[in-house]
Amino acid sequence: MKTGRILTGIYGLDKLMDGGFRENTINSIYGGPGVGKTTFALQYSLFGLDRGEKVIFVSFEMSERQILRDCKDIGWGAIKDYVEEGDLKIVHIFGEDLEFPSLDITEIIKKSSPGPNPRIVIDPFTYPTFYSDKEKRKSLSTIFQDLRALGTSVVVLEEPADSATNCGGPGDIHTNRLLSTPLYLSDTVLFLQNLGFGEMYDRTIRIMKHRGSKHGEGIYPYSIESGLGIVLRASKKQIDRVMSKTKFDDRFVQAIEKTKTMGKPGEKLAVKIESLRKNWVLDEDPQQILDLVLEEEKKSYENKS
Ligand SMILES: Nc1ncnc2c1ncn2[C@@H]1O[C@H](COP(=O)(O)OP(=O)(O)OP(=O)(O)O)[C@@H](O)[C@H]1O
Ligand SMILES: [Mg+2]
Repeated sequence: MKTGRILTGIYGLDKLMDGGFRENTINSIYGGPGVGKTTFALQYSLFGLDRGEKVIFVSFEMSERQILRDCKDIGWGAIKDYVEEGDLKIVHIFGEDLEFPSLDITEIIKKSSPGPNPRIVIDPFTYPTFYSDKEKRKSLSTIFQDLRALGTSVVVLEEPADSATNCGGPGDIHTNRLLSTPLYLSDTVLFLQNLGFGEMYDRTIRIMKHRGSKHGEGIYPYSIESGLGIVLRASKKQIDRVMSKTKFDDRFVQAIEKTKTMGKPGEKLAVKIESLRKNWVLDEDPQQILDLVLEEEKKSYENKS
């Protein structure tokens, strides 16, 4: 697991995500109605609050009262104390009343934040509210950039209802630009789904992207449990697939030894191989890859000299 990670607090998720969210990033939770997006956002908030962190929760749908009531129902009634102590700030905004550029979401967050570097939640992120038609990508990109400077954000993105009926996949995001832009701009995207047959493994989560990180690429079942919230059920095999393996370390050491005859490019290559060693999750022997890389890097070195 890497340092500089923000634990999500979602049981079973962090070990599939190289240790969690990266600090000062935008992490989108994408899914249809009732999949557990708000539960995810609240669980992320509560996990931080329990560890002395500050949270700002910007809500475009539910009032503070509704949020606290939902928390109480799932078994998180104690979250109310954090509001009273000032560690959790819930800001309720009516999306339809606000239009770009009059609403500056980052200004609101900056002004109402209960402390530096908070966990930030925006639920849901009603993106058409925030930027003009003409300059969608640029404006949204600026908003995200500003948010990154403020803290580590969980942004809830609602999957349109017609996309949910469309084979139940996130396929539509590729054709719907308005929807796809926030996903492209996010550092991490988690896709939550509920097939709705009422079976044990109907709810699934997929890590669609997680920049700068080795992550699980499976589809992981989860359930929502009273008191706990979201709990993932990755199999031992699935977890093993994302765990670094040390059993091939001697291969990497030998390869690094060979770079020493290659001058400056060799030094650069040694750093790359060391990074590969630390992140090697496969059961497959890396020898073939190492030989290939050494051969090609050596070739260009010989050509130059
Ligand atoms: N205590 C609980 N035990 C089991 N399941 C629960 C519990 N509380 C909530 N749920 C499930 O979570 C669902 C709602 O989750 P949540 O509000 O987080 O979803 P959402 O994705 O934010 O939905 P929306 O699209 O309405 O914003 C409920 O429909 C229910 O299936
Ligand atoms: Mg919700």
